[in-house]
Amino acid sequence: MVKIYQTADYASMSRRAAHIIAAEVIRNPSCVLGLATGSTPVGAYKRLAEMVAEGDISFKNVKSVNLDEYKGLAPTHDQSYRYFMQDNLFNHVDIDVANTNVPDGLAADAEAECARYDALVESLGWADLQLLGLGRNGHIGFNEPDDHFTKETHVVDLTESTIDANARFFASADEVPRQALTMGVGCIMAARRVLLIASGADKADALYAAFCGPITPQCPASILQLHSDVVVVADEAALSKLTAAGVAVCK
Ligand code: GLP
Repeated sequence: MVKIYQTADYASMSRRAAHIIAAEVIRNPSCVLGLATGSTPVGAYKRLAEMVAEGDISFKNVKSVNLDEYKGLAPTHDQSYRYFMQDNLFNHVDIDVANTNVPDGLAADAEAECARYDALVESLGWADLQLLGLGRNGHIGFNEPDDHFTKETHVVDLTESTIDANARFFASADEVPRQALTMGVGCIMAARRVLLIASGADKADALYAAFCGPITPQCPASILQLHSDVVVVADEAALSKLTAAGVAVCK
């Protein structure tokens, strides 16, 4: 079941998403949060850091599992997802870094690292709340459009569309890694609750395809239609195609 909240803009999407994550942390101070990277969650992470600074919530006992990591990037590389998480959230909240998990992009045996990561997430009892952004081609984590869904954490070849979209963070498109390690849809669907956030008109087609189109691996996010507890928080621009089609949203 999918509940969709519409917000006016990126700032209000970020606040609403932060409040949903904070509510999870308050309800269960030792929850497992599935976390995401990309530009979309940055505002929500900032708000969560403010809430910790204000003494309203604590991440002291929270555990986290990130969705994905570029293959070949060291945790110290400023475009690695480990670096992103430190920079945007972990360094600004009272989480124990030992309780944070990101796939190891430098693992000599990437397949073994994927298997380790699946076992780790399972041993934590799966995520209580999994935060997701949305790729313009409907990808979640780095699950790219394909002819099948992949359940396990796996090594993926990034599509040209994703490389182009992420090139803005690198000096040039040539520097964007061609592969990544990503949770498969198994871990994502095993989360008790999923929170997908999206902002801007360039996400409108993907958001529409994800929730109004057929369930197909060509739009990986569409599998979320089969999850029992999905919350979408998106701004008017990202939801424009759904609202034009008459889909009911909460405000
Ligand atoms: C990357 C990440 C995804 C993210 C997507 C969208 O490819 N692997 O997890 O959702 O980008 O990014 P943005 O939020 O910058 O649009």
